[in-house]
Amino acid sequence: MTVKLGIRRLAGALGAEITGVDLSAELPAETIAEIRAAFVEHQVIFFRDQSLSPERQAAFGARFGPLNIHPYVAGMAGQPEVMEIVKEPAEKLNFGGGWHSDMSFLPAPSIGSILYAVETPEWGGDTLFASQAAAFEALSPGLQATLQTLNAAHTAAGEYAPGRHSARPRQSMRIAEAEGAVGEAVHPVVKVHPESGRRALYVNPAFTVRIEGWSRRESKALLDFLFEHSRQEAFTCRFAWRPGSAAFWDNRSVWHYALNDYPGQRRHMRRVTVDPQPSAGAQRRVA
Ligand code: SIN
Repeated sequence: MTVKLGIRRLAGALGAEITGVDLSAELPAETIAEIRAAFVEHQVIFFRDQSLSPERQAAFGARFGPLNIHPYVAGMAGQPEVMEIVKEPAEKLNFGGGWHSDMSFLPAPSIGSILYAVETPEWGGDTLFASQAAAFEALSPGLQATLQTLNAAHTAAGEYAPGRHSARPRQSMRIAEAEGAVGEAVHPVVKVHPESGRRALYVNPAFTVRIEGWSRRESKALLDFLFEHSRQEAFTCRFAWRPGSAAFWDNRSVWHYALNDYPGQRRHMRRVTVDPQPSAGAQRRVA
């Protein structure tokens, strides 16, 4: 027997809180289909008061597609598809502290990420989300048309190339610096969502470095404009975590930003990242 989910919108552009489901259970296919429909429609969905072991989080994530093993961030021992995102009280930097879309540097980037809060600070540590579908729809028809003819190069070099983290040590997360991180993946600047049919901007400040065929200077001018445009308040929602909260966001149309405003406190999250089904969405790889 299936239970109809409760769905409460959180903001104008994206985000909804879902009630009436225990994510740790073996959910029937109908409930998974309802969750997937809410995820596609609202772009990021939130759950409260869950109790997810790493195994159950991975099992839930695997209902939506194959789980990614991050090429540069070590997963849990024995459970490499589950990444622990920890900031200790003495640490200054946080993981994900800038607008980005997970794994856009891969030829076939992730469709979604599921983040679960194990331990949260007493205050602060919220995550912001921004709808890149709403950002695209707010542009003029002329610019929309031009952007749809462009491709952009994405790379993990800025985050994971050799030398990057020696200057910015992270004690609690094992982040590898890899020669391979300097490779680039090329994606359309505007992607049509394969499930909703909605168009969304697909460039982000963390990983997008260039418009294909344009000089660095030309690319910077357009990308700076798009980055500024895309983070407008009207396109965002904000989630305040509590232990047991979970979020499932659509990396195909959403940016996110982990706020670093809780000095001296500990924050402990776990993430699984869902890949597209093999063969779907493969993109050309360069370099
Ligand atoms: C991430 O970028 O995946 C982390 C987001 C967060 O910790 O809020």
